[in-house]
Amino acid sequence: MELFKWSNRYSVCIDSIDEEHKGLFKLINSLYSSLTEGQAQDILSEVLDKLFEYTQKHFRREESLLRAANYPYLANHIALHEYFEQSIVKYNQQLQDDPSSLTIEILSFLRDWLIQHIQGVDMDYVPYLKDKNLS
Ligand SMILES: [Fe+2]
Repeated sequence: MELFKWSNRYSVCIDSIDEEHKGLFKLINSLYSSLTEGQAQDILSEVLDKLFEYTQKHFRREESLLRAANYPYLANHIALHEYFEQSIVKYNQQLQDDPSSLTIEILSFLRDWLIQHIQGVDMDYVPYLKDKNLS
């Protein structure tokens, strides 16, 4: 079972970015399977760590593309990225204190946040990158 299934409506039409977004959802799906399979806290924490690292890498790359494109709303975009990263850190800390704190609702929140982010503010920067041939 998957919590998220990729569809073209999530595509920003820049392959490298789509691939990274797919990678993020893949990790959320694997957190979901680990959770529903009743995996131990350290396994869940490991996958959350992986999600955090992958997210950081992807966000920094996206931000450097936006910087190169002189994207006018970069500061706001960075603040949104920071919020998501801090949420992952918070959920991982909660998981250390209470193994039952990581729930399907939290994973759904991460998934929905990403979907809204991609379909909203990520789509918004696409013309700026395309204009400078950045990907
Ligand atoms: Fe973004």
